[in-house]
Amino acid sequence: MLQRGAYGSVNFAANRSLFAVSAFAARANCFLSSRKKPLKIQQKTMSSRFIPSKRYDGVDRNVWIEFTTLAAECKAVNLGQGFPDFSPPEHIKQALADVAAVDSVATYQYTRGVGHPRLVKTMSKLFSPLFGIEIDALKDILITIGGYGALYASISAFIEHEDEVIIVEPFFDCYEPMVKIAGGIPKFIPLKPKSKESAGTSAGWTLDRDELEKMFNKNTKAIIINTPNNPLGKVYSREELELIAEMCIKYDCLCISDEVYEWLLFEDNKHVRIASLPGMWDRTLTIGSAGKTFSVTGWKLGWAIGPSQLIKHLQTVWQNSVYTCPTPLQEAVARGFETEMSRMGTDESYFKILPEQLQAKRDRMVQVLKDFGLKPIIPQGGYFLIADISSLNVDLSDSKDSGDAWDYRLVKWLTRNKKLATIPTTAFYCKEHRHLTEKYIRFCFCKEDETIEKMEKILKEWSKSM
Ligand SMILES: Cc1ncc(COP(=O)(O)O)c(C=O)c1O
Repeated sequence: MLQRGAYGSVNFAANRSLFAVSAFAARANCFLSSRKKPLKIQQKTMSSRFIPSKRYDGVDRNVWIEFTTLAAECKAVNLGQGFPDFSPPEHIKQALADVAAVDSVATYQYTRGVGHPRLVKTMSKLFSPLFGIEIDALKDILITIGGYGALYASISAFIEHEDEVIIVEPFFDCYEPMVKIAGGIPKFIPLKPKSKESAGTSAGWTLDRDELEKMFNKNTKAIIINTPNNPLGKVYSREELELIAEMCIKYDCLCISDEVYEWLLFEDNKHVRIASLPGMWDRTLTIGSAGKTFSVTGWKLGWAIGPSQLIKHLQTVWQNSVYTCPTPLQEAVARGFETEMSRMGTDESYFKILPEQLQAKRDRMVQVLKDFGLKPIIPQGGYFLIADISSLNVDLSDSKDSGDAWDYRLVKWLTRNKKLATIPTTAFYCKEHRHLTEKYIRFCFCKEDETIEKMEKILKEWSKSM
């Protein structure tokens, strides 16, 4: 909750990003030092009328801001936030360099608001056979600022006051606040291990048919799923998606399918797009991310793909909020996709190279965690794994963060005392279901082997002192 201070003023300080604050301070210092006379500094006051919209009540805490800041402050080995610390493929870097080298109005200036023409045309060629439908480049795709932007556009376009939205847990944390800000009511259903034996792999965590059906009613507007899943690494099977599709059709609901890790599959797991199942194209919005696809999360480019009658409403949200995405990045991603299409199925394909590399990193991390005595759940895809850490005997009784869930406190303790940054798993659950995974934490394995070695060293040292 925002803290309301004396005289109705609002304390925003806790929510300021370190970067924004330091950049502002640097600019202010520079300006001040260039003046002869010192500036008369004004008293800082805030009118009691500047209370933010009620829509944002209760959604100010953000796990990424909190734990990324802490990891940086503690100079910890960062296995927290989901970004690769290795280089993206050469061809995508070269594509951006080539775009920057051309002196052309076409790449310096605004491009088409809802998607750069070369990018949407290339994506239509790439994705049409994968979805099993002819994707109209100009009508069935919206290019956004990251997968995040596409989620925001999808939820804002369709969710109204009191609409119920089913969210499958564990879920990428922004789904819940986005639904609430739109006025909707999130309803949560957790994936659960079928049995003790099956709990060790993400494939063993499933939805129960009866429990799922009970979640739907006449007020249900949409369901949000994520495959491959962050943080569990679950890849939904065709049968599981058919069950979700059956419910969506029966209850006439939208499906928002977050598929930002669509290329990252291990062993013989296959990515099934729910939009490609019978009756689903017309009710599904599929979310993707160039950041995750090409290991360039800082480019923050994503998309939503779906039927024109849905996408046109996302386009309305976009043209009235952000309007357009950076032209050079869209042009570079278009060229990146073109290169990948020419390499599809070959050993040069990044969509083959990256999952192979990640699978080896996953296996290495799993071994390190097991050697230390933890129980990792083996993911079928994505960047992440969660591990059962209930065997850790850490005394958190004098922790400063006593109001937090156990995993929040443990992750802070690990970051501060062992210089190992991870992410608490309860961030991916609603308040009522947090007890289900309070004894798990999330590790990100899209990291250099060196980073995983550093983690191993920390855990080995710790073992010796136990
Ligand atoms: C499941 C999921 N969806 C969406 C996103 C956001 O993607 P982007 O960085 O392209 O905005 C992430 C980022 O970590 C994610 O894990």
